[in-house]
Amino acid sequence: MKKLIAGNWKMNGSLQSNTALVQALLSNAAQWKCDVALCVPAPYLSQLQSLSKASPLLFGAQDVSMHEAGAYTGEVSAAMLKDFDCRYAIVGHSERRQFHAENDALVAAKAQKALAFGITPIVCVGETLQEREAGLTEEVVKRQLAAVIHVNGHCISEIVLAYEPVWAIGTGKTATPEQAQHVHAVLRGQLRAASAHADRVHIVYGGSMNAANAAQLLAQPDIDGGLVGGASLKAADFLSIIAAAH
Ligand code: PGA
Repeated sequence: MKKLIAGNWKMNGSLQSNTALVQALLSNAAQWKCDVALCVPAPYLSQLQSLSKASPLLFGAQDVSMHEAGAYTGEVSAAMLKDFDCRYAIVGHSERRQFHAENDALVAAKAQKALAFGITPIVCVGETLQEREAGLTEEVVKRQLAAVIHVNGHCISEIVLAYEPVWAIGTGKTATPEQAQHVHAVLRGQLRAASAHADRVHIVYGGSMNAANAAQLLAQPDIDGGLVGGASLKAADFLSIIAAAH
């Protein structure tokens, strides 16, 4: 399957710097052999919509509301994202689980809402360092994915799954290719048990992926791409990761 390299800008960017970054990426688009997406702060969706027009660049949001519409101050609905041609929405990023008290049930409901509006949720799962050291990695990621499977049933083959060990995010500590592949294989097995189309699901790795480690991670049989934070903010770094994905 074609790999997917998705950038997660987090709360970074400005109208001016976004244009420069996207134009630098697009100047290389003829070389891309994988799908490339940028998940940007909501105010910049319209900008991405126009910058990416007539190009292979896909884009998405970093969150979506579990509600459809109404009195939910500050929330952004799936229908609004769809209005801007959003292809993806990250759901359940560890920073939202940690700082915004998102739990497995809420993440599953957000994934369901995205799917209902034709947006592909990039569902993030991953263990903390404490959980890894306690030998709980598999238990934690399986619990997080089970909640999403439970609510989304057969549609589960329409998601993108991101394995993001919390201890590797923004720390410069990457999971080894073997550590990541092991968890990806566990997740693949869980998806296979839930859907006959599990092998279509992109399971991408996130957590300090960079130009130096991307090729080895992406060479693993169950690593179908990357969710890239810090390294997606510099065109040269992000393009090296894209070049490693073929
Ligand atoms: P990082 O972030 O690449 O900066 O570690 C990845 C993510 O949080 O999606």
